[in-house]
Amino acid sequence: MCGIVAYIGHRDAYPVIMKGLYRLEYRGYDSAGVALINHGLNTYKKAGKVSDLAAFMEEKDKGGHVGMGHTRWATHGEPNDRNAHPHSSESGNLSIIHNGIIENYASIKEELIKRGHIFRSDTDTEVLVHLIEEIQTNTHVELEEAVRMALSEVVGAYAIVILSATDPNMIIAARKGSPIVLGIGKDEFFVASDATPIVEYTRNVIYLNDNEIAIIKDGKLTVKTVENQIKTPYIQELEIKLEALEKGGYDHFMIKEINEQPRSIWDSMRGRIDARKGFLRLGGITDYQSKFLNADRIIIIACGTSWHAGLVAEYLFEEFVRIPVEVEYASEFRYRNPIINECDIVIAISQSGETADTLAAIELAKSKGATIFGVCNVVGSSIPRATHAGAYTHAGPEIGVASTKAFTAQVAVLTLMALQIGRERGTITQSRFMQMLSELETIPLKTKKVLETNEKVKWIAEEYKNARNFLYLGRGYGFPVALEGALKLKEISYIHAEGYPAAEMKHGPIALIDKEMPVVVIANKNSSYEKVVSNIQEVKARKGKIIAIVTEGDTVVKGLADYVIEIPEVEDALVPLLAVIPLQLLAYHIAVMRGCNVDQPRNLAKSVTVE
Ligand code: G6P
Repeated sequence: MCGIVAYIGHRDAYPVIMKGLYRLEYRGYDSAGVALINHGLNTYKKAGKVSDLAAFMEEKDKGGHVGMGHTRWATHGEPNDRNAHPHSSESGNLSIIHNGIIENYASIKEELIKRGHIFRSDTDTEVLVHLIEEIQTNTHVELEEAVRMALSEVVGAYAIVILSATDPNMIIAARKGSPIVLGIGKDEFFVASDATPIVEYTRNVIYLNDNEIAIIKDGKLTVKTVENQIKTPYIQELEIKLEALEKGGYDHFMIKEINEQPRSIWDSMRGRIDARKGFLRLGGITDYQSKFLNADRIIIIACGTSWHAGLVAEYLFEEFVRIPVEVEYASEFRYRNPIINECDIVIAISQSGETADTLAAIELAKSKGATIFGVCNVVGSSIPRATHAGAYTHAGPEIGVASTKAFTAQVAVLTLMALQIGRERGTITQSRFMQMLSELETIPLKTKKVLETNEKVKWIAEEYKNARNFLYLGRGYGFPVALEGALKLKEISYIHAEGYPAAEMKHGPIALIDKEMPVVVIANKNSSYEKVVSNIQEVKARKGKIIAIVTEGDTVVKGLADYVIEIPEVEDALVPLLAVIPLQLLAYHIAVMRGCNVDQPRNLAKSVTVE
């Protein structure tokens, strides 16, 4: 949802900014632009991807040690050259890049138009930079003061960076609701939406808090609040590995990340379990143990793929913890008048830790006294900072817009949570607990085995790549997997796909089935296996095509299905960790065969920081 990057120091700013923009492109790829201080303040921008901007810049003067860049996911105004960032003030003296939304921009714009301002774009961002200049002109204050005054007038969310032609050795950045990370190097500073553009230059970073403004001037950093209070920022050390940000020989980040799952699942459990010793500990749960033991209800809030992980958690918590669970779309939850009280635990799940709807839902639940537990992947992001406690998924940076390894890491962590709380509450027997721990430890190896189905899945993809619709069916733990499989296909191949509880098929979707309709069924051996077999027969009777995910050695479904993909035998509660992988691969191969941009699907962004 827009990526921003800026540099000030002894290096050439342009290459640092462009490399940063490529890293941030997962946040939006409707347009890109840069501003460089180089014989004045020069702005260059282009609709399209960062590579289009790079081509446009070939003949341009790219010198200068101060600059900033932006990659956009359009909210206000079409994704064209005009609306691309950076935007300039009335005089052209100031330039701004912005991630977020200025909600009261229309009234401010109207006022500024009355004062003679002429706007060259349809964006809310341009209004902000005009406002800053207007304040500066009227009050003759320093730029940093004008920024502060302007920010106290605007309503909405922002992460901004501002450059000024008259203060060429200065960068001003500010945040409210959208992330900003500052990289602190030797005689140089970096500003970015996340740490990925910074990590190869310095590991020392500051995560700006909401309502804070950073002023980097003549080699010195000052942080103050919008209320003009000076802050002492906390410098943290980054843990991201540089290789995690590269494709490492794979064609796409998505397939790299699918293949990383044996490792990322293990990293999410490492140090937290030891089956031989019967050891399981998530520190965040231990710290809030009495809250979990006495909870009346667990409410899970999330969006997209994370919401599917939440559905898996509902089954896990009901099975092992025996506390009622509700799984809510964050966007719906926050606009209802939900009944929440102090004995409720809210679990917020988010890969990015920045999703605006999830953040807003957290604030609402917090204001009603609930205890909030975060399950996030990005260290230092907004959601972990807004929650009382939490457990990170250690999936590593996920760059492909379609979430894969983050989903399995979330499910792994949620499984650990359910088992730990279940043990403390006495709702799981010691022998079952020990058995689950042993099974969990086999998962990385079993996921490796599932990845070996890749060639077969590719073959199936070839057969169905031109289908116009897909249906995904599953029961119990297989149902969220069906939803996630359908979402993956929709997101990256643009084929219409729906996930359904297998038994619900007869209440509607069965009408869609004909010889053109591929139906993907999660049909592993479990207590509802026979029922799923009946559903498969219903599809076959209507000439639908069956692609089934079955337990190794299955013969019954093999006899009925057009294709089967085998997964190793595993505890039913752990099936999502394995069964989702062939569905990720299927979506990936179909999308590649259809010539789609799998890492940057149209209209999507990985981190949705607007409502
Ligand atoms: C976006 C992404 C999805 C993601 C969802 C929630 O829509 O495209 O892949 O599942 O946001 O994101 P979060 O970072 O909160 O998990």
